[in-house]
Amino acid sequence: MSSLADGAQLKPIRLIAAACNNLGIGKDGRLPWNIPSEFQFFLDTVTAVSQPGKKNLLIWGRCTWFSCPEGVLPLPNTLHVILSKKLRSVPKLAHYLCEDFDGMIRLASLPPLNDLIEIVWVIGGTNVYREAMEHPWCDLIYLTDIMADFDCDVFFPNFDKNVYRKQSGFPGVPDEIQEENGIKFQFQVFKKEC
Ligand SMILES: NC(=O)c1ccc[n+]([C@@H]2O[C@H](COP(=O)([O-])OP(=O)(O)OC[C@H]3O[C@@H](n4cnc5c(N)ncnc54)[C@H](OP(=O)(O)O)[C@@H]3O)[C@@H](O)[C@H]2O)c1
Repeated sequence: MSSLADGAQLKPIRLIAAACNNLGIGKDGRLPWNIPSEFQFFLDTVTAVSQPGKKNLLIWGRCTWFSCPEGVLPLPNTLHVILSKKLRSVPKLAHYLCEDFDGMIRLASLPPLNDLIEIVWVIGGTNVYREAMEHPWCDLIYLTDIMADFDCDVFFPNFDKNVYRKQSGFPGVPDEIQEENGIKFQFQVFKKEC
């Protein structure tokens, strides 16, 4: 990671994803399943701030951004950063374009945004998740276990469960197995043990 200027304000970096039995997360540019209550949990989590006026920074790989279902955006309490080396302008409804992960970190942690931003939520895809989980500021991985097999062409990266330890009774995250549309799933949170 490149060094940050003096005064950079540490921001918690958190991943949020849902993955099925083989860690699949996507197929043909879309989610492989339709589980509205799981998607609502995602929306509720990334839009939660501790006080009015604060914002969370949502980090999207280019493909994930353009796969977002119509009608989801805009989202309250959020600013959207698209990661891409190819795009030349900020897509409609997004706020910032960064050409690498470090550029996004500088955006989040230095003026003028540093006082506004609470949490950096990384919302995919694969490469963005991988960079985020390796970053020293990453503390939590929210990973819903979709307890079923789906045909997928994009996968959540493997991570060390001795570094990120599964939590039980994590505040605000139901522990029990749920079911919708015939698909069982369970919310999970993994916390980095330093
Ligand atoms: N189940 C879930 O929780 C979940 C979550 C998110 C996404 N998904 C699914 O995953 C699929 C999309 O994910 P994906 O992995 O294929 O693509 P993606 O990460 O969304 O997009 C890949 C593109 O993002 C840009 N990018 C990624 N990392 C970058 C970096 N460090 N710096 C600069 N640019 C970077 C590059 O764009 P350029 O080529 O423009 O440089 C790259 O080609 C979809 O099927 C989506 O539905 C599922």
